[in-house]
Formats: sequence, C-alpha cells, structure tokens
Amino acid sequence: MRLYETNRLILRELDETFALTVLNYYQRNKDFLKEWEAEKPEDFFTLEYQSERLKKDIELTKSGHILKLWLFHKDDKDFARTIGCISFSNIVRSILQSCILGYKLDKDELNKGYITEALRKGIKIIFNEYQLHRIEAPIMLRNEASIRVVKKLGFENEGIAKKLLKVNGKWEDHMRWVLLNDEMQ
Ligand SMILES: CC(C)(COP(=O)(O)OP(=O)(O)OC[C@H]1O[C@@H](n2cnc3c(N)ncnc32)[C@H](O)[C@@H]1OP(=O)(O)O)[C@@H](O)C(=O)NCCC(=O)NCCS
Repeated sequence: MRLYETNRLILRELDETFALTVLNYYQRNKDFLKEWEAEKPEDFFTLEYQSERLKKDIELTKSGHILKLWLFHKDDKDFARTIGCISFSNIVRSILQSCILGYKLDKDELNKGYITEALRKGIKIIFNEYQLHRIEAPIMLRNEASIRVVKKLGFENEGIAKKLLKVNGKWEDHMRWVLLNDEMQ
C-alpha cells in the first residue's frame, strides 16, 4: 500500500482494518464537516459502512480511478489518529488526463499548514507518477480557508459552475480552481 512522508506528516492509503480510526475521525468532526460535505447516509457513522467504503477505495485505487491518502502526524507510529485526508478522484485518462481534488482536516488541527503540506506532496505524485495534466478543485464561494489553500498552491480560478454539487442538502455554486501540469507534453 502507498505511503509517503512530508516534513511533519505521513500520507497513506488505508484498508478496512482502519475502519475504527476513520469512524473516530468522522465522529469527532461531524459538526465541523457538515457545512462542507454531502449529506451522509443514515448508517455512515458505523464501522460496517466505513469498512465497506475503505474496501471500495482500495479497489478504486487499484483500478486507477482514485488516489486517496489519509494524514497522520509523524510521531503517531501506530497510525492511531488520522487528522484528515486528501483525495484525487474521478481520474479520467484519454484526452483529458484529469482529476477532481478534495481534502479535509480535523477541526483541532486547522491553520497549521497541514493540508497545504499534504497537497504539495499529493500534487507531485499525481503529476509525476500518475502523469495527469489537470487537477480541478471545486470550492464554494464562502469557503475562504479552502480558497486560501489552493491560492497558496498556485491554482487559478476558471470561473463559477452553477449549482455544481449538492452540499449539506443544497445545490451550491462552486468556483473551479485548476492546476495544470505544465511539464507534460
Ligand atoms: C479547508 C481546510 C482543509 C484547510 O486546512 P488547513 O490545514 O487549515 O489549511 P492551511 O493551514 O494549509 O491553510 C489555511 C489558510 O486559510 C486561512 N484561513 C482560515 N480560515 C480563514 C477564513 N475564515 N478566512 C480567510 N482565510 C482563512 C489560514 O489563515 C491559512 O492561510 P495562511 O497560511 O495564509 O495563514 C480545512 O479548513 C477544512 O478541513 N475545512 C472543512 C472541509 C473543507 O472545506 N474541505 C475543502 C472543500 S473544497
């Protein structure tokens, strides 16, 4: 399974044996994430659901459709507490070579640069190893922390997509923030 290091973090894939770790993350951050994510199915906060989801993520990673990496502090040697994740999903090949970016942190770890640090690594992997040409991050207009993150990473705003994603039960307009792999022929 994939595992990467940055200055302060370990980024790694998780399989279903980490269902409790992931469930704990979502339970701790239920209220914090609500405003920014899709409505959750009723059984979302169960071990069974998280276990199935992690299995599916591994399959999708193997088939090359996503890259999802969970974040841990480097001193968390047993990978006991994840502090968030970054995901490159909807990987499309052919003449697109593109993906959609998502990320989330733990409410108690904000504004320490962790997501930016993790994404710097993730972007290198997706451009150099996966050889993708375009990363697109859809961001709601009021999500100022997230806008700041993509700006720090050099993304450009390509404009607004009307009612692009259903977030917290409501179709929301999103800005399309994009980073291109200029090295790629
Ligand atoms: C978006 C998110 C991942 C950022 O994680 P993070 O590790 O705190 O990000 P960083 O520390 O790398 O950068 C955050 C930046 O936003 C700034 N910021 C935070 N809140 C802000 C606000 N309300 N208004 C303006 N800027 C803000 C911080 O000062 C920091 O900028 P700086 O480095 O110039 O000081 C985190 O807030 C989160 O998980 N949000 C909920 C889920 C989410 O929105 N995901 C993205 C969906 S598009």
